[in-house]
Amino acid sequence: MKLSVIGCGYLGAVHAAAMASIGHEVVGIDVDAEKVRRLSAGEAPFFEPGLNEILAAGVESGRLTFSTDMADAAGSRVHFVAVGTPQRHDGAGADLTFVNAAVDALAPHLGAGELVVGKSTVPVGTAERLRPIVERTGARIAWNPEFLREGFAVADTLTPDRLVYGVTGGSDSEDVATLDEVYAPAIAAGTPRLVTDFATAELVKVSANAFLATKISFINAMAEIAEATGADVTMLADAIGHDARIGRRFLNAGVGFGGGCLPKDIRAFAARAEEIGRGESVQFLKHVDEINLRRRQRVVDLLVDSFGGSVVGRRVAVLGLAFKPDSDDTRDSPALDVAVRLHGLGADVVCTDPEAIDNARRQHPQLTYERDLDRALEGAEAVVLVTEWREYRDLDPVAVAGAVARPLLVDGRNCLDPVAWRAAGWTYIGLGRP
Ligand code: UDX
Repeated sequence: MKLSVIGCGYLGAVHAAAMASIGHEVVGIDVDAEKVRRLSAGEAPFFEPGLNEILAAGVESGRLTFSTDMADAAGSRVHFVAVGTPQRHDGAGADLTFVNAAVDALAPHLGAGELVVGKSTVPVGTAERLRPIVERTGARIAWNPEFLREGFAVADTLTPDRLVYGVTGGSDSEDVATLDEVYAPAIAAGTPRLVTDFATAELVKVSANAFLATKISFINAMAEIAEATGADVTMLADAIGHDARIGRRFLNAGVGFGGGCLPKDIRAFAARAEEIGRGESVQFLKHVDEINLRRRQRVVDLLVDSFGGSVVGRRVAVLGLAFKPDSDDTRDSPALDVAVRLHGLGADVVCTDPEAIDNARRQHPQLTYERDLDRALEGAEAVVLVTEWREYRDLDPVAVAGAVARPLLVDGRNCLDPVAWRAAGWTYIGLGRP
């Protein structure tokens, strides 16, 4: 099928390449000429495992092209809108500038019978609002939220755990048949597929992210209680996680959640709920956000305490800048935030990350970055692990103890074995762990 994907960021670039890999003819459109140049050369403009391979294969096959010209989307049967919906600069709500601009720019190129499919995460009511702009052209609109996780984006796109189609015509509509054709391999593999109205589809996405954020903040709240009582939050998570109704996943206490989705999505959801007069219903999301942000400060406080009240001039190695491993994304990253806060307190911070240094440097040029892990650790008076990359989890506590000036470790992700690190002479400080 001939498809266009408007917006080639973390979501759109992966979607375009994945759709080409299952045999569709895809054009990706983005306003950023440099991004389009790199994608056209089969090169991912950001780090995502497996993306370079399917991008290169798609470009090579001739089925995957990229352009800055919206006119190149003309003639596609389905147009995916995959632009960003960041947090507004002047508030907590979602900034819909890019979604609105994408649909306005696409409209003149739409033809009768074509389908515009929103994938961006939007406040409930957006699809209905955009509907007349699309329908005026003879095209139709559907909302098909995307649940991909960074680091697993290719697999999540090709083999999603569910498909949600928000449509106007119900299960038997032509739009559903069209989307089934787009996702034919996933449908054939028996992927659960739910057909809903617009509002439900929009809410599925934000409520899924709200639930995940709540789960993380719940365990981080328990970490706060554990810290006051001498309990161990990781054991607590293991124990409650055995209850199948609770489940162990997303119960890792630590420095908290970040990234381009969870933080802004819960804020936008709360803001939208206020607008529709139901602010009370999701008031708890404000607490979820607050608990989450408190954990960043907690890491800083633990470190300051370990230096007897001041980190001024103290050499601190910060391991990790990305908001999670296997990503170079530093948007709202707790790791980068911790580094910035320590720097602000006068510490001599040296930051390292396998992939995220360039993005971090663009946001915070004032920090000192070191690509080489050994050099970052050299002479450190404290080590703070804030992104649980495999190479950090695999560090040998004995070898690292030999490199640093003082063996003090704050494990902001509770991902190291305290017994092994203490045995190697380290003062090990976890979050919510004695
Ligand atoms: C999230 C959703 O998972 C995904 O379905 C949606 O489409 C986009 O938002 P993503 O932002 O890629 O995906 O990251 P995710 O894996 O959900 O992690 C989010 C943050 O939570 C990370 O900072 C991670 O470190 C943190 N986290 C996750 C925890 O602190 N504890 C956990 O137990 C799990």
